[in-house]
Amino acid sequence: MLKIGVLASGRGSNFQAIIDEIETEILPASIEILIVDNPEAYAIERAKKHGIAYLYINPKNFPTKEAFYEKIRDELLLREVELVILAGFMRIVKKPLLDAFPNRIMNIHPALLPSFPGLHGQKQAVDYGVRISGCTVHFVDESVDSGPVIIQAAVPVHPDDTEETLSERILKLEHRIFPEAIRLYAEGRLKVEGRKVKILNYKLPDTYFTNPEIRQ
Ligand code: GRF
Repeated sequence: MLKIGVLASGRGSNFQAIIDEIETEILPASIEILIVDNPEAYAIERAKKHGIAYLYINPKNFPTKEAFYEKIRDELLLREVELVILAGFMRIVKKPLLDAFPNRIMNIHPALLPSFPGLHGQKQAVDYGVRISGCTVHFVDESVDSGPVIIQAAVPVHPDDTEETLSERILKLEHRIFPEAIRLYAEGRLKVEGRKVKILNYKLPDTYFTNPEIRQ
């Protein structure tokens, strides 16, 4: 059973999707701890409801960002966490945590990276006028939303989409690919080679879509 630690800052719907797939035994993992940087995070309610241990760590209590991440690292190591999940954790991860978990921190981003990194990926996609966007699960490195890509999922952008409507469409897929990426990791099927992630024994999709649809 893969021991995971989850870091979150808010709503925690991705955290919930992971809990659900663990509870239905699709995902062979156990959540050792939820760590939040925000005492109001709704993710805490989810942890309570499912009997998951949680910890609020206030970044203001630390003299430097590094010290904050040292504390997070120590709490994760104490619980023998093997994989760290950033489920809506709204901070840039710093060296002490990265060094302790090389290629063992996963993030989900609501755009098809490397397009639209940083905050408000969905709004950036709407404003740019792209016709296809989506979400990306990737390993975390020292830059923002830049580590090796594990899974991506695409959705059409509709002409009347707002940030909210596109976010909703993307979120449904986030909830599917994040637990799936963790499952691949838990099954030992992810191998990082430089920038690339090799996935052992997987099916290639034999489909495509265009937006707008084109003559068949
Ligand atoms: C998601 O859109 C995720 O892609 C981004 O932050 C949001 C978190 O949502 N990194 P939730 O807290 O999981 O509901």
